[in-house]
Amino acid sequence: MNILGIDIGGTGIKAAIVNTKNGKLLSERHRIPTPKPALPKSVSKVVKEMVNYFDWKGPIGCCFPTIVVDGVCKHQGNLHSDWINVKIDKLFKKESGNSFFVSNDADLAGYSEIKFGAGKNVKGKVIVITIGTGIGSGMFYNSKLIPNVELGRILHTNGEIIELHCSDSARKKEDLSLSEWAKRFDFFLNYVKVLHTPSLFILGGGISKKFDKFIEHLTVEVPVKPAKFQNNAGIIGAAIFADKNYKK
Ligand code: BGC
Repeated sequence: MNILGIDIGGTGIKAAIVNTKNGKLLSERHRIPTPKPALPKSVSKVVKEMVNYFDWKGPIGCCFPTIVVDGVCKHQGNLHSDWINVKIDKLFKKESGNSFFVSNDADLAGYSEIKFGAGKNVKGKVIVITIGTGIGSGMFYNSKLIPNVELGRILHTNGEIIELHCSDSARKKEDLSLSEWAKRFDFFLNYVKVLHTPSLFILGGGISKKFDKFIEHLTVEVPVKPAKFQNNAGIIGAAIFADKNYKK
């Protein structure tokens, strides 16, 4: 089935039409900056603009950058506290008329990697880490998702959440070199290794394009692979999720 996948991020909202049978994009990716402040009203207007841009009439899969349980936002993440307890799928449906299937962005990025990408047929615990405005984490055991695992919210030694220290936005904000940033990220991976003993880490988000340049700085003794779909993993996973849940 062809489905529109939308990935709502802390800085950009990206979308494309996806063939859910093979995970291929059937359109160019379109990006609109995330409104500031990212309130339910302003974000749902951009979602509608996106639907109109693709002139899309069918169901839509959507990545959301915080904890989502049954379509309801449970944490403000890097958006706004007005989102807490908002039924996101219902809100977007009201704005655009389409059926929406919404879940956490890293969980959905993981879906595409487990189904068609770097995590296909990998046994044991696979952790997909998305590196962007925040640090997202999707955890899978024998290809089955354990939802809403929030590894970016682990506390760093200075008492702040660790994503503030090693996300891609931290790298840009503090003007870190790739190796400086990679050392911080490696500290995080080593900590997650102690907590979870994964069989594989898959790294997604925009910075995964630079994987070949930073892998040499990672010391963690767990295999690490770049996401096959790089920054499109969320869009593709969102479409797969909608396909799975849409009653045809
Ligand atoms: C949120 C996660 C999200 C990640 C990436 C974090 O701030 O807590 O739920 O997956 O950002 O967007």
